[in-house]
Amino acid sequence: MFGAGTTAVVTGGSSGIGAATAERLAGRGCDVLAVGRDTDALADIARRTGARCCAADLTSPGAADRVLAEAGEVDLLVCNAGVGWSGPLEVMPEERVGDLVRVNLLAPMLLVRAALPGMLARGRGQIVLVSSIAGSMSVAGEAVYSATKAGLDALGASVRGEVAGRGVGVTIVVPGVVDTPFFARRGSPYARRVPRPVPPERVAAALVAAAERNRSQVFVPRWLRLPARLRGVAPTVTDALQRRTT
Ligand SMILES: NC(=O)c1ccc[n+]([C@@H]2O[C@H](COP(=O)([O-])OP(=O)(O)OC[C@H]3O[C@@H](n4cnc5c(N)ncnc54)[C@H](OP(=O)(O)O)[C@@H]3O)[C@@H](O)[C@H]2O)c1
Repeated sequence: MFGAGTTAVVTGGSSGIGAATAERLAGRGCDVLAVGRDTDALADIARRTGARCCAADLTSPGAADRVLAEAGEVDLLVCNAGVGWSGPLEVMPEERVGDLVRVNLLAPMLLVRAALPGMLARGRGQIVLVSSIAGSMSVAGEAVYSATKAGLDALGASVRGEVAGRGVGVTIVVPGVVDTPFFARRGSPYARRVPRPVPPERVAAALVAAAERNRSQVFVPRWLRLPARLRGVAPTVTDALQRRTT
């Protein structure tokens, strides 16, 4: 479905999950616009995969409209760019709170809002939001990150209801821990015993497959849907389990 003759926008296409997704889609003949700020990394992706590149800071005003104008008619919008921060909320710098909200939540809201009119007019399109197990489990020490990802889950579910029956689908991808520069960039390594990191290529494969089937939600690895469901009915149990695995 997402091959020759289709166009995809992948934010965070310069690194990790986004780079693996851009590579997977481009390898199938899809016209991919990889979005990020690191122009060297983007140029490398373009060289290796043939993807087009768009240097953009998604927190800057008007970025969503500029990205979509550069892409043309978009069949698949992957909102994947994200940043983390780890530590107690009371010592989190205000600037970092704003960064996380702007990159992880506000940017996807504006991108989806900008992409929908064209998708709805054409009667086709798929939106993918890359969330996190932190959004489902509400991780201590990642309060703002967890809140942005829970917000992304709510955004996706709400928009899915708004576009139902109009040819546009919404898929939420929920990775556990992925072996990318994410932890180095947030300034603290991954410190839990479980879940174990998976390669970004595995998330990319699950993302593309779920988008093609218009799945509403996919966990990577799949077993993570069990603690996420359990938290919905017994949060004190899963909170205690989380403390034991830290
Ligand atoms: N790694 C994990 O364990 C994990 C687990 C669950 C969910 N996730 C989620 O997966 C997504 C991808 O993360 P990753 O692991 O692949 O991390 P990553 O390798 O650090 O990639 C993050 C991407 O986001 C882009 N980005 C950050 N701020 C941006 C901004 N202001 N404007 C434009 N692009 C920006 C970066 O591009 P530039 O550097 O070019 O700006 C980079 O391409 C994120 O949403 C993350 O929350 C990750």
